[in-house]
Amino acid sequence: MTFLFNSDARRGAVFAEAFAGELPDLPFAMDATTVDPDAVRYLITWTVPENLVRYRNLEILFSFGAGVDQFRFDTVPAKVKVVRMIEQGIVRMMQEYVALAVLALHRNLPAYLAQQRAGEWRDIPQLQAAARRIGVLGLGQLGQAVLERLKPFGFPLAGWSRSPRRIEGVTCHDGRHGLEEMLEASDILVCLLPLTEETRGFLNAELFAKLPEGAALVHTGRGPQLDHEALVAALDSGQLSAAMIDVTDPEPLPPGHPFWSHPKIILTPHVASVTQPASAARAVIDNIKRHRAGLDPIGLVDRSRGY
Ligand code: NAP
Ligand code: GLV
Repeated sequence: MTFLFNSDARRGAVFAEAFAGELPDLPFAMDATTVDPDAVRYLITWTVPENLVRYRNLEILFSFGAGVDQFRFDTVPAKVKVVRMIEQGIVRMMQEYVALAVLALHRNLPAYLAQQRAGEWRDIPQLQAAARRIGVLGLGQLGQAVLERLKPFGFPLAGWSRSPRRIEGVTCHDGRHGLEEMLEASDILVCLLPLTEETRGFLNAELFAKLPEGAALVHTGRGPQLDHEALVAALDSGQLSAAMIDVTDPEPLPPGHPFWSHPKIILTPHVASVTQPASAARAVIDNIKRHRAGLDPIGLVDRSRGY
């Protein structure tokens, strides 16, 4: 029985140490060429290796990230459990990033940065937090965590998910009708949806038109959810006032792409949240212990939904 680690050696060393302490009976390998494929019961990776079928006794495929859209499920045998990464490092960093983005957009930072570059000293009328409505697309691990972190600022908070949710201090919406209701009342829209066939191209011209004029966007989901041309058109027409974008398609963006220089866009290179090896190792170890005890791992992916 072996745990196979398919990522960089620096993080591998952190995992190896944690596994040696917590699961000393489970051999830990970082070099696939040195292990008997039949012994591999657990594999952690960012993308599914082409030769996955050689691990005939694989029980759990762990994603190194919170998202699993990079996995091609049709290459993973149905008996293998697919588990996404749920760990405190990812959650904390996403809370920081979305708080940073919401505050930057709330306090007109893109416009002030443009004024600075133009040598212009001019104040912009400032809405108070109680009048700036925040809507979060996706009320999962991360959507809920960022809403919790935003609560002390006093923004009216709302969120949208597939199934109905109840979250104290948050107006929760679900379904198509719920989406329309939330969009028309979102001055800053945050996308934290997983990438699935239903959410591909979700942030498009039709959606932007449903937001209040001058609304802003924070995108920390996945690149293919955003129609780049529609975003630039909405910013140029004034339908949207600004955007903070962490994920794009492709990544990295090619030279000359309009996002690099658009004055109303703050761009970061998919860094909102990064898996932290020590807490990730802890989460994976706990899940192996759960699995051995006959319990479902935390973060088990429902392949029919795609997340
Ligand atoms: P999660 O716990 O699986 O939550 C996903 C949420 O989205 C759920 O509330 C789900 O609704 C909702 N949802 C999914 N499809 C929907 C649809 N078609 N209509 C309405 N709601 C839908 O995921 P998470 O851990 O919060 O992570 C969300 C995503 O963040 C990841 O998949 C990844 O793409 C992205 N991410 C980005 C970064 C970064 O650095 N930029 C880092 C980590 C993660 P239900 O509650 O009804 O299931
Ligand atoms: C990063 O984007 C992740 O999915 O963890």
